[in-house]
Amino acid sequence: MAMAQTKADTNGIRHAQMLIGGEWTTGASGEEIGIEAPGTRQLMGAVPRGGVADVDSAVKAATAAFAGWGRMVPRERGRLLLRIADAIDARSEELARIIAEETGNALRTQARPEAKMSADIFRYFGGLASELKGETIPLGEHVLSYTRREPIGVVGAIIPWNAPVMLGTLKIAPALCAGNTLVLKAAEDAPLGILWIAAICHEFLPKGVLNVVTGYGMEAGAALSAHPGVRKLSFTGSTEVGKTVMRAAADRIVPVSLELGGKSPSIVYPDVNEDWVVDGIIAAMRFTRQSQSCTAGSRLFLHADIFDSFLGKLEEKVSKLKIGDPLDEANDIGAIINEKQFKKVCGYVEDGMKQPGARMLFGGPPPKSGPLSKGYFAIPTVFAKDANDWRLAREEIFGPVLVAIRWTDEADAIRMANDSHYGLAAYVWTRDIGRALRAAHAIEAGWVQVNQGGGQVPGHSYGGIKQSGIGREFSLEGMLDSFTQKKNVSVNLTTPPPA
Ligand code: NAI
Ligand code: MG
Repeated sequence: MAMAQTKADTNGIRHAQMLIGGEWTTGASGEEIGIEAPGTRQLMGAVPRGGVADVDSAVKAATAAFAGWGRMVPRERGRLLLRIADAIDARSEELARIIAEETGNALRTQARPEAKMSADIFRYFGGLASELKGETIPLGEHVLSYTRREPIGVVGAIIPWNAPVMLGTLKIAPALCAGNTLVLKAAEDAPLGILWIAAICHEFLPKGVLNVVTGYGMEAGAALSAHPGVRKLSFTGSTEVGKTVMRAAADRIVPVSLELGGKSPSIVYPDVNEDWVVDGIIAAMRFTRQSQSCTAGSRLFLHADIFDSFLGKLEEKVSKLKIGDPLDEANDIGAIINEKQFKKVCGYVEDGMKQPGARMLFGGPPPKSGPLSKGYFAIPTVFAKDANDWRLAREEIFGPVLVAIRWTDEADAIRMANDSHYGLAAYVWTRDIGRALRAAHAIEAGWVQVNQGGGQVPGHSYGGIKQSGIGREFSLEGMLDSFTQKKNVSVNLTTPPPA
């Protein structure tokens, strides 16, 4: 089956529809938003420009579907999620190519693993359906007091474009497993992959359980955040928009989960095997996703004893990574999502080059001619400056620009690592496990990795502190905390007197 809701026009542009109440629709306005392929800057597709009326239809459909879905035996819901997982797996290469094309993320290093991960996420949560357990409270023999984990109702979820299918399935799977219904607002820059997931889900789910609306943040996103029928908001994206979503939630007192930005530190001690850790730093910095990752280890705190040799080795390995066409198997690194983000990243590089006391060790502005000038290709760039208080060390760049900062005193390194309004991820690199764990405990972050720089795995607690976010969604506890509400029932066990 090809994507039923997508039709290519005579120019090969794929016009997709959105899924509302089990129907594919072009939306109330009939207007579209074009989707540009970041690797070529060519128009590749278009989706409906959803707005207030479409969001309203979707929330109504989700409300109607909740009556049945929320009462279904949880294991039956889980079984449907498991079937969705298998269906994604069976066609994941098709999905991987859509992801690579619309996000600009390289097929081999990013898009293919993301497609597989989305099936894994459905499988993980599908298996957890019977864990939606409550508890009994020992108040004495005269009373039975117990809690139920009930679904919240209609969830409004808003996702970004950097790993849109993974981040979208991370809302869909736990929210639906717990018995909620969902209206998901796709990112305007990369909606096709998640619409593909919606098409798979549509084959298995009752209508209205999952609705996917496309459109701009200020239109469809804002309408969803403000809709009175939405009982829970779940957002992944910038800290700035996260605050807006939280304000909308405050207006109606609905719970909110936020997965926001980061400026995550990597602390490297002098006892390490430098070659081995260089590989880990490349992974942690997410260079092969153009560093468009909220968990990118973008502040590298290197001990003075190894500072120069380590950065030399880093340059050697990073320069071997191949940048280019995201769909070419040979390439490790693809393109930045759009012109706005590309210019923003280039602006940081130019700013760094002008910064007093900063040295650009390698990289630099993107080429102005040649094949790489045809897409939004940024070059991995590393600056060194022995300070954590300059713009490039403080702001989330969301591009392949790493700052290296020298340290000699451990307490100083940890103080600088914590001197950020973000607190998402962190990385510690040393052969001394006691020291590693003391540092891990002292760092203000929701997730610390020791001697590894990988991505999230379903099941572990993942989320931010400080302005990196609120709430956890990646795990069993995340599903329970973010997508259920507790009800307490207290029953007097004394036999009531006769009427
Ligand atoms: P954004 O936060 O504006 O977009 C994320 C989602 O929010 C999109 O679906 C967008 O349509 C929606 N949105 C935007 N304005 C909204 C509003 N007023 N109400 C409701 N929804 C709204 O992120 P953007 O502009 O694409 O990227 C800007 C910066 O955000 C990046 O440079 C990066 O620093 C950060 N970012 C962080 C991400 C993360 O994974 N934590 C993901 C994407 C961006
Ligand atoms: Mg924005």
